[in-house]
Amino acid sequence: MSEINGKVVVITGASSGIGEATAKLLASRGAHVVMGARRVEKLEALASLIQAEGGSALYQQLDVTSIEQMQSIIRLAQSRFGRVDVIVNNAGVMPLSPLEALKIDEWNRISTSISAEFCTVLPQVYP
Ligand SMILES: NC(=O)c1ccc[n+]([C@@H]2O[C@H](COP(=O)([O-])OP(=O)(O)OC[C@H]3O[C@@H](n4cnc5c(N)ncnc54)[C@H](OP(=O)(O)O)[C@@H]3O)[C@@H](O)[C@H]2O)c1
Repeated sequence: MSEINGKVVVITGASSGIGEATAKLLASRGAHVVMGARRVEKLEALASLIQAEGGSALYQQLDVTSIEQMQSIIRLAQSRFGRVDVIVNNAGVMPLSPLEALKIDEWNRISTSISAEFCTVLPQVYP
């Protein structure tokens, strides 16, 4: 049996790309995936797909720049499955432009990827 089977895995940024693919793969191998991202309609569709294929998936809207929302998704996983085994700390943005383009809004959004790091300590801080 797969070592992934039965693991409780929180995945941030699960609404597209690497996070979505990770959720599908881990769920297909028996993990309980708890998915977060801002585009909740994408998460809803993904959870339905995973469940239709016999997998276990929950989702909750999540903006990783909000510590309260990160606490909330960890608590969701803990309350539904009793624990968190793994956090796939995937949410992030990667805007690319030359500095002289002065895309200050994009620069400020890079903090998303830094804020997301707090998620990795939440199970210890909020048992
Ligand atoms: N693809 C690459 O070549 C590459 C290379 C190096 C690093 N990475 C990193 O790998 C990760 C995934 O990349 P990807 O290519 O799969 O990109 P992607 O398709 O754009 O996925 C990014 C995910 O992050 C979520 N996200 C962004 N801001 C968020 C926020 N504030 N709160 C919660 N979720 C947020 C997005 O969901 P919502 O918009 O629905 O919130 C989306 O699900 C990113 O952190 C990226 O920086 C990717």
